[in-house]
Amino acid sequence: MKFKSLTRDRKFTVFTGSSVFDTISKDQKSLLFLGTESPMNQLTDIRDRAHLPGSEVKKLNFIKDSKTLVFRKYYRSGLRSHIFEVLLAEAVLKETQGEIIDGIRMFPRARPVKMFRILRNRFESKTAVFREIEKYNLLLKFLGKNLIALSEEFLVDYRGTGKSQIVLCGLQEYVAGPILDPWRLFGEASLMDILHSHSLVEHAKKNIAIFVKKIRQMIDQTGYIPDLAGIGNLILTCTGDLKLVDINNIVEIKLDDTILLDDKGYPSCDVSIAVLSILEQNLLGRDIPMDDLLYRHFLSTERKDRVKAIEKEFYTNL
Ligand SMILES: Nc1ncnc2c1ncn2[C@@H]1O[C@H](COP(=O)(O)OP(=O)(O)O)[C@@H](O)[C@H]1O
Ligand SMILES: [Mg+2]
Repeated sequence: MKFKSLTRDRKFTVFTGSSVFDTISKDQKSLLFLGTESPMNQLTDIRDRAHLPGSEVKKLNFIKDSKTLVFRKYYRSGLRSHIFEVLLAEAVLKETQGEIIDGIRMFPRARPVKMFRILRNRFESKTAVFREIEKYNLLLKFLGKNLIALSEEFLVDYRGTGKSQIVLCGLQEYVAGPILDPWRLFGEASLMDILHSHSLVEHAKKNIAIFVKKIRQMIDQTGYIPDLAGIGNLILTCTGDLKLVDINNIVEIKLDDTILLDDKGYPSCDVSIAVLSILEQNLLGRDIPMDDLLYRHFLSTERKDRVKAIEKEFYTNL
């Protein structure tokens, strides 16, 4: 099976050459795996592994073993993806060995040139993966490149378990900045704590207002909402720009009594709508219009109580 890389970045050309697993015997396999990890662990699908160190990324059959790049596990993480910083090897060297600037040895932190994402999702078919990529394109169309971390989504032929499987990956722009945690937003003061400047706070509020408006347009015109609920999904940059970095869990909105759960069993649709209302109410200081169909449906006390109970169970089972 061959899948063409959708990325144009040559350094990351995805290759589908024959896997080492096809050509060696079982005994040789166990010898090969007398490394840092047990054989069991090596054969576990990367999507099921709780932790995948950056040092192992280049050993994956679909990654080129480039000397100029280093993959480093990102210090923040979520439930649906493995996230890595893609760094220039020379920048990592400067970070660890330092460089002399104005007579002083400095250790500048290497800034990622890209973020590399391996999605844990399993897709039923190639069509299902393409549908996922289409949803990303939809998000891009509605939010535009200023409000999301742009990503080049691509499929790879993952052969680490001995058989060919499609895995969705992404090479994304790196967004520096603190997380905008919707559950800790208490008005403008929260923005001031992050940005320390009135003009930047005003700029951030303008961006948040545009973000809310565009998400509302996406909901009205497509019936889909991105995942605004996950911790770390929204980042506020030091220049007051708001970016949605989690661009993969885009779910359908249904105006009925069922509380839809995403692939992880989380009520992300309901919670994302709650986050949208928090941005409007707590950050932009708007009154939530209760004649608004979306909010009236999703934010009724009875429904919010049901969502809370599902969330509680979700976190208990984590
Ligand atoms: N492009 C990016 N730039 C900066 N941080 C990112 C980027 N992509 C993801 N992150 C951070 O990595 C963590 C996990 O990312 P996320 O996209 O939410 O993954 P998941 O799909 O597992 O929920 C989050 O804290 C997020 O802020
Ligand atoms: Mg997330």
